[in-house]
Amino acid sequence: MRQQQPFVVGVIVGSSRPGRRGPAVAGWVTEVLAQHPAVRAGEVTIELIDLAEHRLPLLDEPVPARFGDYRHEHTRRWSAAMAACDAFVFVTPEYNHSIPAVLKNGIDYLDAEWRGKPAGLLSYGADGGGRAAGHLRDILTEVGARVVDDHVELGLFVDFEWPGEDLSDPTAAARIAPGEDRAAAVTALLTDLLDAARDLVAVA
Ligand SMILES: Cc1cc2nc3c(=O)[nH]c(=O)nc-3n(C[C@H](O)[C@H](O)[C@H](O)COP(=O)(O)O)c2cc1C
Repeated sequence: MRQQQPFVVGVIVGSSRPGRRGPAVAGWVTEVLAQHPAVRAGEVTIELIDLAEHRLPLLDEPVPARFGDYRHEHTRRWSAAMAACDAFVFVTPEYNHSIPAVLKNGIDYLDAEWRGKPAGLLSYGADGGGRAAGHLRDILTEVGARVVDDHVELGLFVDFEWPGEDLSDPTAAARIAPGEDRAAAVTALLTDLLDAARDLVAVA
């Protein structure tokens, strides 16, 4: 596995729809991670990566990613952004008991960029998005990422505030407001990622 100083952790925003909550959730994750001792010591940097900004079309590469023969500029840009990361935190909502198509598509585009790298999962949804996290774990395992055991869940009606909003309105704005225990779980996720990275180096 590529190792560099500082160690780069990419926090990936896994949704793309207008009005999505993904950037707020991932922004909160990066704020929490910024307080981690390894980040404060300059050993780790956190990169926020918004899949929506990459504007990847539905997979249009003729050669499967495992061969690394990328024909399109958008793939090479996405590849370079992921190759620059040593580990990942995937921030995914639950869509119909799974992950958003944009996230599955972004993963399918690449292979070596995920392989052998530690990955942590944070899901959110009406009841925490656990089914999406389960699917994501399987998908990332297939592309060779080392998904750490624990994942973090945020519930839409527990970890968000709905100031004066009508909850029956599906576009209602919510403010992310997770409790201290959720922040501690995100901090622990980064510790797990760093431990996994050390273990991988030790066996290499
Ligand atoms: C297409 C779609 C399907 C959804 N399906 C589920 C679901 O199966 N389980 C759940 O808990 N929430 C579900 N939700 C609610 C989302 O998890 C919630 O709206 C979340 O904020 C979506 O993430 P985003 O705002 O970043 O797009 C769904 C939302 C959408 C748009």
